[in-house]
Amino acid sequence: MYPTELVKGVYWVGAIDYDIRNFHGYSYSTHNGTTYNAYLIVDEKIALVDAVMGPFAEEMFARISKIVDPLRIDYMISNHTEMDHSGAVPEVLRRVPKAKLICTAKAVDQLKKHYQNGWNIQTVKTGDEISLGKKTLRFYEAPMLHWPETMFTYYVEEEVLLPNDAFGQHYATADRFADQVDQYVLWREAEKYYANILWPLSRMVQRKIEEVIELGLPIKIIAPSHGLIWRENPLEIVTRYLSWAKGERTKDKVVIVWDTMWGSTTKLAHVIGEGVHSAGLEPVLRLIPHGDRADIMADLLDAKGILVGCSTMHNDILPTAAPIVSDFEMLKPAGKKCATFGSYGWAGGAIKKIQESMEKGNMDIVMEPFTVKWVPTEEELKKAYEFGKEFAEKVK
Ligand code: FEO
Repeated sequence: MYPTELVKGVYWVGAIDYDIRNFHGYSYSTHNGTTYNAYLIVDEKIALVDAVMGPFAEEMFARISKIVDPLRIDYMISNHTEMDHSGAVPEVLRRVPKAKLICTAKAVDQLKKHYQNGWNIQTVKTGDEISLGKKTLRFYEAPMLHWPETMFTYYVEEEVLLPNDAFGQHYATADRFADQVDQYVLWREAEKYYANILWPLSRMVQRKIEEVIELGLPIKIIAPSHGLIWRENPLEIVTRYLSWAKGERTKDKVVIVWDTMWGSTTKLAHVIGEGVHSAGLEPVLRLIPHGDRADIMADLLDAKGILVGCSTMHNDILPTAAPIVSDFEMLKPAGKKCATFGSYGWAGGAIKKIQESMEKGNMDIVMEPFTVKWVPTEEELKKAYEFGKEFAEKVK
């Protein structure tokens, strides 16, 4: 259990959770595990910036003990109260009662309600600073990135930004820096993280990033609370966040997701995919029960558009398609261009339900649904091909 030094006096002392496969109560699949990043900043005084999830407290203390006696910690900085970061805070303050807890005013109630404790708390707001001796910590409130109480900590002299959940990824590895790992997995996990946690907060994300850019803070390292630390070209992740927040559709692909009862909607999906391809866009085909809703939302993040297909059962969507439809309403991929397709027997309720969810998610329905009764004929398959092609042309 060893720490990793980021820059002089700043250490990663977090925990690696290789085994977790579901986050947020099964709402987010974590195929690559995650890390809970805590950072120890050692100057004349010592600050611990964020903690780890409760069960990982010993791992964090073991890493801290390789640097200093944990009893020397002066400040416990809580950027965010969600329990994957604050879970070990009670244990830190139990072992080190002299440590002062630093957080935003909004975090106080949340911490009290979570842990029912009468700690020595100092609240901070944007621009407030704490001197650690030779060097300084400065705080920036970042409400709704992604909870109301969230803040960023900035280590001024070393130009290290500690933004908690922002810019993170659920990716457990023995490496600590983004430039050391498989770049495909890294960026895929960063996209999935944005799509599933920050997408509905995009307006706030854009505003906060533009605010930080206007401040002109020099940033050498971005050290988030999950996954890898950005030290080579750290602003690349910031640029991508801005692009995702603005809803830029940078990848030449169309996501096609569907489920089917007896294969008719699958036939449509495949031919529609060929139509999309004929117009020069990559069709990304995902049969819903074979995949996972969190992955599909990651696929969608910077796609040109999405086509959703479903057969109708009891005048409604198939139950397997329900998570996707609910994600449209919850994650609000605003402005994403979309349309629907599917087969039905005697009523087409599935399409109506999907379109209602697309509207609630502020998505942009650009074409009338393409539907067939029972099994598609050759003629209808030709029309499905044209439907895919026309959709691709519209969203290019
Ligand atoms: Fe990683 Fe919002 O907790």
